[in-house]
Amino acid sequence: MNAKNSDFGSFAQDVLLGLSSNPKTLSSKYFYDEKGDKLFQDIMALPEYYLTRKEFEILESQHEQILRPVLESGEPFNLVELGAGDGLKTKILLRYLRDNQVDFSYFPIDFSGSVLKELKESLVQEMPDLKVTTIENTYRGALKERAWDNGKRSLILFLGSNLGNFQLKEAYEILDHLMIGTNHSDWVIIGFDLKKHPQITLNAYNDPTGVTRAFNLNLLARINKELGANFDLDSFIHWPSYDPISGECRSYLVSTKRQQVYFSSNQETIHFEAFESIFMEVSKKYNLIEIGELAERSGFKVIQNFTDPETYFADCLWQKK
Ligand code: AVJ
Repeated sequence: MNAKNSDFGSFAQDVLLGLSSNPKTLSSKYFYDEKGDKLFQDIMALPEYYLTRKEFEILESQHEQILRPVLESGEPFNLVELGAGDGLKTKILLRYLRDNQVDFSYFPIDFSGSVLKELKESLVQEMPDLKVTTIENTYRGALKERAWDNGKRSLILFLGSNLGNFQLKEAYEILDHLMIGTNHSDWVIIGFDLKKHPQITLNAYNDPTGVTRAFNLNLLARINKELGANFDLDSFIHWPSYDPISGECRSYLVSTKRQQVYFSSNQETIHFEAFESIFMEVSKKYNLIEIGELAERSGFKVIQNFTDPETYFADCLWQKK
């Protein structure tokens, strides 16, 4: 059993447990099979999905200031990335570090093996001298194992509003793992999607072209394929919602009829009442006060917040106390 499974239970177990709960729920970390990775690429290209572009803009225009405190030490370090994805934004930092002859090793972590493989290939192509060690694991699993623990200081990247996939209590748990998994004076850069006009936020998860809908439905398709289930994808509607107080954008799939889904792999049946829903994903938004509290309460000192001119997004540099 690999670390990924021992940490969380298998895909089949998680799915059946989630669908037997009330309310029904699935974990968004399972969105990212090969098809899901592609659909997320399409999401990032949507005009409504501002997050990636805003963060790209911040890193592109402010990477020097962002990395200055880290480089001032002059010591070699580990660049560890939680949820590396396609690495498009990270490459801004990687190129800058390379061009300045900084001595560092890159440890991209992702739960999707297919995305890591592509990332590694593109890095070998573009930066053949870069030291890269890919880690296929969950955030929690990787922070427990600390494959990069070599006595050097670490800079942990947690970009893309990936922490937003956790509700507040879970976010504190992840930050706790981060606290335990780092050494005194290690650095962290976390990307947060900021609270803004609620319509703008909601639109980012409700594109009229239906890509986000397809992204959610793809998890049902994956369950059909990998667990031998028979979800009828046409009988579920994609329902995103945004609560401006909690900052939680939540996505649901709503069953439009009373129905049963059969899992042939283990002969289990899941019942849906008409208009019963599956809670699919949370994408939580914060303001800078809330972010400061998050840092403080989990043992990090806020060094500086970097935002785009419209303050849609923030990349926050923290240091472990
Ligand atoms: C990859 C978690 C940052 O929550 O905004 C995009 C995933 N879900 N559209 C997000 C996602 C629907 C995304 N993160």
